[in-house]
Amino acid sequence: MSSMAIEATDLCVERGQARVLSDVTFSVAKGDVFALLGGNGAGKSTTLLTFLGFLAPASGEAKVLGQDVQADKKFVHQQSAYLPEAANLYPHLTARENLDYFLALAGVSQTPEDIEAALDHVSLREDARGQRLETYSKGMRQKVAIALAILRKAPILFLDEPTSGLDPVAIDEFNALISKLAESGTTVLMVTHDVYGACQVARRVGLLRRGQLVGLFEAPEGGRISPDEVHQAFAKEHQQ
Ligand SMILES: Nc1ncnc2c1ncn2[C@@H]1O[C@H](COP(=O)(O)OP(=O)(O)O)[C@@H](O)[C@H]1O
Ligand SMILES: [Mg+2]
Repeated sequence: MSSMAIEATDLCVERGQARVLSDVTFSVAKGDVFALLGGNGAGKSTTLLTFLGFLAPASGEAKVLGQDVQADKKFVHQQSAYLPEAANLYPHLTARENLDYFLALAGVSQTPEDIEAALDHVSLREDARGQRLETYSKGMRQKVAIALAILRKAPILFLDEPTSGLDPVAIDEFNALISKLAESGTTVLMVTHDVYGACQVARRVGLLRRGQLVGLFEAPEGGRISPDEVHQAFAKEHQQ
């Protein structure tokens, strides 16, 4: 089996009458963080929805852990956690209640101690854990969503603009959490328009423009991708 956790091969996707992804090819090795950058309408969310099996490619292939997504959608749902742009947790439930509910729904049994450990892991304030999510900041809700992914032991994380709307401190905290998860073997595909954040966490960054992958950056051994370099390429692509 391939060591790639996530693979797009000549992926073409149409929405309505329009082609919104054209021949997109990239792969993400197990335990790596890949960030897909692009402006509004570039096709970032479409890419994630295709990997989740919610959109079928017109041609080409999306594979997760060696499995073609279209051939076995249940497999990808079992193996992955997805954070959509708008949070998908219940505002009228507390953090603990949300985790209880969604874990039961996923058929995962966890003790209260496991839940506290996961909330420790994402550094959610202890005094907030019994409060309803409607009182939370976006950063706090993201932490609960990540705690859920940790408890489900999802080997793959799909994140749609996870840091948009977060303050700078919450962004740093979130990026540190993602790096920690990747170090423990989780594979992450995140889409974002935050160049700096992408370079902070990702070992590889892809640049998407109007449905085409127009740039690919890779961190040097033991180093980081230069945000300046990516920013320049991003700005240049935007002028075109
Ligand atoms: N539900 C939809 N039906 C038809 N076209 C869509 C739909 N959602 C998005 N699109 C189009 O697909 C393209 C890519 O959108 P999207 O993947 O949401 O971009 P991004 O997440 O990068 O902002 C855009 O041109 C957008 O207008
Ligand atoms: Mg989007």
